[in-house]
Amino acid sequence: MTDALPITSVWLTCQIPARDQRRGRYVRQTSSHPAKMLPHLAAHAISSYSEPGDLVFDPMCGAGTTLVEAMHLGRRGIGIDIEPRYAALAEANIAFAASKGATGTAAVITGDATGLLDLVPASVVGRVGLVLTSPPYGRGTHGLVQTTSTGMRKRNHHYGDRESGNLAYAGWSRLLDGFASILAASYHLLRPGGTVVITCRPVRRERDDLIDLPGELLTTARSVGLTAVQRCAAMLAAVRDDGQIVHRANMFALMAVRRSRDDGIPVHLLAHEDVLILRRC
Ligand SMILES: C[S@@+](CC[C@H](N)C(=O)[O-])C[C@H]1O[C@@H](n2cnc3c(N)ncnc32)[C@H](O)[C@@H]1O
Repeated sequence: MTDALPITSVWLTCQIPARDQRRGRYVRQTSSHPAKMLPHLAAHAISSYSEPGDLVFDPMCGAGTTLVEAMHLGRRGIGIDIEPRYAALAEANIAFAASKGATGTAAVITGDATGLLDLVPASVVGRVGLVLTSPPYGRGTHGLVQTTSTGMRKRNHHYGDRESGNLAYAGWSRLLDGFASILAASYHLLRPGGTVVITCRPVRRERDDLIDLPGELLTTARSVGLTAVQRCAAMLAAVRDDGQIVHRANMFALMAVRRSRDDGIPVHLLAHEDVLILRRC
């Protein structure tokens, strides 16, 4: 049973496509990460819930989107990822942001964030203004669609190492337990009044089995002592001035919806991601 919290605000975070948000701001290899946060979503969360000079922490930083956007907004970022190749990618993006004149700084640690209090410097404890993160959504994710001479194929839609402890491979209950450990430890890093922003979307496990991941994560976050402040929707589609919605879904997402509808399951394309905002009181 999960706790309800109504959506009260909509963030227009996909007015331009994700690849255009990243162009000239991220290194090319960033496309190899299977589940990146939208840069405009990260930037909106950082400017809304932290101040210049604040410490922004992402315990599952992937390609480093949260750290790069923090740097461009004059914050100090610190991130962890369990996969050495994603930590290296985040480092490359941090160096690129610095070369582009970002005024903030950031650092990445490679390791398992369920033990993050053993990984981060003691000086960080109680000093973080904003924890901004998104969990892995299971082992198969968004990825890229590539056109080949024989048709379309998906690439970069799986995380790296199944044996690494990557929560993407953990199954739902272990993912939630792991996320609870990460949030409980992150709570100690937050200064009193500090904010946690979690972005996530519902996940379809089998075609007719929908997991309310946002609701589950809200319950988990409350269980570690965080107070829920607001729930928002960050658009994954563009909203035009006349109210028209322009989806940004790839061909495989469109095909999956079409197949489900053909089977009588009335699903829609995902047009938003849930954003949970919580506070350490
Ligand atoms: C949804 S992605 C984060 C994307 C990131 N916000 C970005 O925009 O690039 C989740 C990340 O969590 C990492 N991860 C999974 N289990 C982890 C763990 N136990 N400790 C640290 N990182 C982990 C994955 O390798 C993946 O890069």
